[in-house]
Amino acid sequence: MNQATFSQRLLDWYDISGRKTLPWQQNKTPYRVWVSEIMLQQTQVSTVIPYYERFMERFPDVVSLANAPQDEVLHLWTGLGYYARARNLHKASQVIRDQYAGAFPETFEEVAALPGIGRSTAGAILSLSLKQHHAILDGNVKRVLTRWLALEGWPGQKQIENELWNWAIKLTPSERVEHYNQAMMDLGASLCSRSKPQCPLCPMHDDCGAYQQGKPTAYPTPKPNKKQIPVKQTCLLIMQHQHTVWLQQRPAHGIWGGLFSFPEFNDVNEVELWLQQHGYTNLTIRPLTAFRHTFSHFHLDITPLLVSLPHPAHSIMEQSNELWYNLNQPPSVGLSAVTLKLLTYPELQQ
Ligand code: ADE
Repeated sequence: MNQATFSQRLLDWYDISGRKTLPWQQNKTPYRVWVSEIMLQQTQVSTVIPYYERFMERFPDVVSLANAPQDEVLHLWTGLGYYARARNLHKASQVIRDQYAGAFPETFEEVAALPGIGRSTAGAILSLSLKQHHAILDGNVKRVLTRWLALEGWPGQKQIENELWNWAIKLTPSERVEHYNQAMMDLGASLCSRSKPQCPLCPMHDDCGAYQQGKPTAYPTPKPNKKQIPVKQTCLLIMQHQHTVWLQQRPAHGIWGGLFSFPEFNDVNEVELWLQQHGYTNLTIRPLTAFRHTFSHFHLDITPLLVSLPHPAHSIMEQSNELWYNLNQPPSVGLSAVTLKLLTYPELQQ
């Protein structure tokens, strides 16, 4: 098997089957490709498209993004998840505004030093937008390569990752690198998908190690003895008065950093005490349907507690990090997936 045939077959497949009409594939600039690559991390193309279009309409260039309040950036990210991506995107845009006079840097080292941009993303941005010669190795590419090589070992392990980088560099052709990189990501996102690979249609199947072994989904090797993640419990207090509910902005770091969410308590006693301290006594605390939300490191079992306030809630001040969220006229703030879910509970609709 020689290297030219790997890239040549992939490029031939890309010419026929690769996606070329996605919004970020039109008038490609490093800025436009950067935003798309960040949105596409952990998120499917079909989900990203409408978010990308809204984002680009509001922030057509890096300076408009840098000058926007963080709340507005998080608002446009609401529903995409992994909000650290949005906070880093915003931070990086300010670095570009302040240190590069608003012009997106074009060397690998400068791009890879920006917040939220690693080696693979820097390579993707510069190859896809400027045709610079860089290899990439994101989750999709790791899957394609570990299968084709039938490479054992968890790719999160440094030694395996280094081996994969070496292969990625070796297989990347000197010509048409922008098409080759896009094709690798497309193949990983389509025919070489995680759980339902369509090997008979794949241009690589003739010499794919995993296919020859008849077990494509055995690769990449999963993380060894995956620890069970802990379960935590919490109560979220939904204070409602007519069409408004009370939300607090979370501290910049930690889960839901910078997002608006319902106040959190350990148990219903804490909620009662807090309500008393704010002058509310004898209110009915109504538990709504509990559910589990899973983060990468823990499960969170959430009990929503609804309290309807009988009179206007003047006794709770609106500080800059708190607001009465109007369900009929939602303000432009970032919300976590959990808050979004609770806002659609039928008990809140009047
Ligand atoms: N995942 C990450 N980047 C991607 C891209 N450019 N195309 C398709 N899937 C991707």
